[in-house]
Amino acid sequence: MENRRQFPDWYNGAVPAFGSMDASLLVVGLAPGLRGANRSGRPFTGDYAGELLYPSLLKYGRARGTYGAESDDGFELVDCRITNAVRCVPPANKPTPQEQNTCRPFLIDEINAMPRLKSILVLGRIAHDAVMNTFGLKKSQYPFAHEATHRFNNKLSITDSYHCSRYNVNTGRLTAPMFHAALERAISAT
Ligand code: URA
Repeated sequence: MENRRQFPDWYNGAVPAFGSMDASLLVVGLAPGLRGANRSGRPFTGDYAGELLYPSLLKYGRARGTYGAESDDGFELVDCRITNAVRCVPPANKPTPQEQNTCRPFLIDEINAMPRLKSILVLGRIAHDAVMNTFGLKKSQYPFAHEATHRFNNKLSITDSYHCSRYNVNTGRLTAPMFHAALERAISAT
């Protein structure tokens, strides 16, 4: 509400997923960034994290066009869909456990609505936990680890990556080659 008042021209709502529901690959991020997805209305669009995510999807043929950091840039995903564990921009840009719980039914619906889904790439531990929760899986049995692929049935696999956030990239926790390796693993499972 406060954002609507302060930034009336921005999207300021629950950011819908981007890409076809028929995709075999789903990328699950954390939450819209205040000045990125919350402004543009498209996941990762205008966010620092999109600067690594979208060129990486282009590199592996899971996107086409030119990423222009705006929702009307004409950029398209190819056999790929992107959503977030939390749909609205969180206060102080940090999702609370309550928000994560509130958004879980949306994530479950999102996953169930994808008939051809084979592989989920989760970005960061919170997204990992959210996805594990949607399947009723124990985090202790499927711990988060960069580039780990978890298989719990023969239909779907879940691959972990550190989140491609500004913090992780600037501190060197996540490099572009590391991110590409995780994406490649997720794609190879589709
Ligand atoms: N923007 C998003 O939409 N999701 C993230 O996880 C980060 C930035």
